[in-house]
Amino acid sequence: MGGRPIVIGGSQGEHVAVQLARLLGAELGGVEVQRFPDGETYVRVLSDVAGRRVVYVNSLQREPNESLVETLLTLDALRDLGASEVHAVIPYMAYARQDERFKPGEAVSIATLAKLFRAVGPDSVYTVDMHLHRISDPAALFGARFRNITGVRELAKYVRAHHAERVRGGVVVGPDEEAEQWARTMAEELGLEYAVLEKRRLSPTEVRIEARGADVRGRPVVIVDDIISTGGTIVEAVRVLRGMGCGEVIVACVHPLLVGRAYQRLLQLGLADLVGTDTVLSPISRVPVAPAIAEALSEVLGGG
Ligand code: R5P
Repeated sequence: MGGRPIVIGGSQGEHVAVQLARLLGAELGGVEVQRFPDGETYVRVLSDVAGRRVVYVNSLQREPNESLVETLLTLDALRDLGASEVHAVIPYMAYARQDERFKPGEAVSIATLAKLFRAVGPDSVYTVDMHLHRISDPAALFGARFRNITGVRELAKYVRAHHAERVRGGVVVGPDEEAEQWARTMAEELGLEYAVLEKRRLSPTEVRIEARGADVRGRPVVIVDDIISTGGTIVEAVRVLRGMGCGEVIVACVHPLLVGRAYQRLLQLGLADLVGTDTVLSPISRVPVAPAIAEALSEVLGGG
């Protein structure tokens, strides 16, 4: 139904859109995005989308607020221009960590963001390893079919392809309780044990980590987390694990935000490898998420 779908990439999603179009056998469409001199965003869809099924891809990074406005303007325009279906692929969903009122008076940012998505009405929302710790029904929240795809299997394929010997007999480590899901998936994929550390956040840039019961002495370690932002979590996890006498350390993350001097801090750790997916472009974004997204999308797009 609807002929070949069109895939369109926003300014933080073009690299994923190009791969998706190829993997799905879809047409690659275009959108022009400009900034007005006063800072406002201008969007113009360049493809004829009337009556077509459209996949729009944009990560809400590097400038999350700019990317969000661009995404909302484009999704709304696609609908308005007569697209028969609009599927929003948001490889990195910003604001997902503020999913609760931790202090009185705080905005629950992800709830507001979801309302904005509901208002522009995509048929479905696909995202990658979004923080869903306290969100039980994201489809209801976003008012659309919702798929949270994991990039950890793609990271595991990378580790297997490049470090199969190095990680033999090793332990996969999640730096905090919330990372258990990613550590478990990575461990299953690699046929290794996993352990989870205990993290306490002292400030936005500082954390304290404790390891209870993790048996890492003399063993290689693969640390896996969803996000590396300032790098504080990874620096502290590596310090603690090395203090316990672990062997070589590989760090893998889904969303390498690497803000400020995070990349330089992590390089100084002398890791055996440091790798992320390309949900966000960075110096370590070597693992494409497009294959996992294409697989999920083909369920709704069928053969085209
Ligand atoms: C937090 O819950 C996330 O899973 C990451 O551990 C966190 O966002 C990493 O941030 P940073 O690199 O600033 O420590």
